[in-house]
Amino acid sequence: MSGFVEKPEPVEVPGLTHLHTGKVRDLYRDADGHLVMVASDRISAYDWVLPTAIPDKGRVLTRLSLWWFDQLTDLCPNHVVSTDLPAGAPADWAGRTTVVKALTMVPVECVARGYLTGSGLTEYEATRTVCGLALPEGLADGSQLPAPIFTPATKAEVGEHDENVSFEVVAHQVGAETAATLRQLTTAVYARARDIARERGIILADTKFEFGFDGDELVLGDEVLTPDSSRFWPADTWQPGRAQPSFDKQYVRDWLTSAASGWDRAAEVPPPPLPADVVTATRAKYIEAYERLTGLTWQ
Ligand SMILES: Nc1ncnc2c1ncn2[C@@H]1O[C@H](COP(=O)(O)OP(=O)(O)OP(=O)(O)O)[C@@H](O)[C@H]1O
Ligand SMILES: [Mg+2]
Repeated sequence: MSGFVEKPEPVEVPGLTHLHTGKVRDLYRDADGHLVMVASDRISAYDWVLPTAIPDKGRVLTRLSLWWFDQLTDLCPNHVVSTDLPAGAPADWAGRTTVVKALTMVPVECVARGYLTGSGLTEYEATRTVCGLALPEGLADGSQLPAPIFTPATKAEVGEHDENVSFEVVAHQVGAETAATLRQLTTAVYARARDIARERGIILADTKFEFGFDGDELVLGDEVLTPDSSRFWPADTWQPGRAQPSFDKQYVRDWLTSAASGWDRAAEVPPPPLPADVVTATRAKYIEAYERLTGLTWQ
């Protein structure tokens, strides 16, 4: 089982049409035909959207994405139109709402990896490949790859796992030219972000982008380079051969799988609410990621 423990009702705002309640973001369309993307404080783990929110998470993800988009403008156009709060929107949308171009999304999760872990490691251990790309012998959990690689995945429905696929599968699905552009943009943006993060003592192990078409042009959409879409590791504790500590949901995952939660992941039951100390520690991690990456102070 997976999905929402409690699916939230969309907020009714005059002039906005609710389109989609995602795991983390809610999408509306405004009268100009733009999309209004509202990042919530929801958090997901183990394919569940948990019943407990992380205060400020939506604002951290929004502000961090906007900061990154600014670092990337010379590499790739992005979907941001405005950060003005739409008329009539609830006050608590402030800081977590982005008005964006409505793109025709390419149904491919564009993942770049500079380090081996997660589903990449699982495939590597079985076949010495990731998304069909051959890799050298002797790599371990957390190893740096000889060069960053494009490891696309097909986008899954809520509760389903994304599936890693080869470049050829993407080319078949979206056309060879689009696939090549996705690969070029994904690796270029990854390399830029990796270098910026590294200067701040953070390893960008891997990250996921979503692109869409605005007319003929591929545009970077969704959120970018947040702890929800990326693995960030503190560089000073990086040590291949074990799982790396990271700036994301580590506290949440660790607590859910500990005896303290009483949750049996395999038992097909929804996870329980998070205790206050796990919420506080997780909020602090998201803010720490924001502050270290941007060099700015939260608030
Ligand atoms: N500019 C854009 N135009 C159209 N759709 C967009 C744009 N930017 C992001 N999206 C879509 O908005 C949604 C964001 O919601 P969120 O990431 O919370 O949900 P998700 O659970 O990942 O989404 P889904 O349920 O579609 O898989 C995603 O479906 C994403 O593809
Ligand atoms: Mg998403």
